[in-house]
Amino acid sequence: MSEKILIISTSPRRGGSMERLCDVLEEEIRKNGKQAERLNVNDWNIHPCTGCDSCRESGECIQQDDMKVILEAMQAADAVVFASPIYFYNMSGQMKVLLDRTYPICGCAGFQKAAFIAACSDQDIRAFDTAAAGFEEYLCCLDEVKNGGEVLVPAACDCKKIPEDKLEAVRRLGREL
Ligand SMILES: Cc1cc2nc3c(=O)[nH]c(=O)nc-3n(C[C@H](O)[C@H](O)[C@H](O)COP(=O)(O)O)c2cc1C
Repeated sequence: MSEKILIISTSPRRGGSMERLCDVLEEEIRKNGKQAERLNVNDWNIHPCTGCDSCRESGECIQQDDMKVILEAMQAADAVVFASPIYFYNMSGQMKVLLDRTYPICGCAGFQKAAFIAACSDQDIRAFDTAAAGFEEYLCCLDEVKNGGEVLVPAACDCKKIPEDKLEAVRRLGREL
C-alpha cells in the first residue's frame, strides 16, 4: 500500500492562493505514486476546544462534531500537511481551532510527519514568523511527529501570480514527504 498524505486546508476562500498551492501539492504527491487526500476544514462543523480535559482521560473529545472524522483521517495518514493563510500575522483562526482539537491524539497522532504551507499578501517573509513558530511548537507537543518542512509564500494575493520558485518548493515538498 502506498503512503498516504493528508492535506488539510484551513483557508475559507475558494479559488484563492491556498487552494492553488494545495492543488499543486496534491498533483505532485499523486505523480510520485503516493495517495493524496484533501480536506478543507471549512466544509466541516468543528467547534473550538472547550478545555474540559476529558480527552486526557478518555482519549476522546466530548463534543459531537465533525472533528472525529478529521482525527480519523489524520491518524490513518502517514503525513499531514497543514495549509493556512496568514491572518493578522498568525495562522488562520480555523487552523488554530483545528490544532487545539487534536489534543486527544497528542502522543498517538498516528502520522509520522507534518508539514506547513502558508501564504500571505505581504512581501516580507517576517509576516510568517509567528505562525511558523507556533506550528513548530505544536509539533513538539505531538512528540513522535517529525517536521517534514514548510513552504512560506509571500506576495500571494493573486493565485495566478504565485512565483514559480514557490510552486516548485511546494512540488519538492510533495516529493519529499
Ligand atoms: C482577516 C485577514 C487577515 C489578513 N492578515 C494578513 C496579514 O497579517 N499579513 C499578510 O501579509 N496578509 C494578510 N492577509 C492576506 C492573506 O493572508 C492572503 O490574501 C492569503 O493569500 C489568503 O489566502 P487565500 O488566497 O487562500 O484566501 C489577511 C487576510 C484576511 C482575510
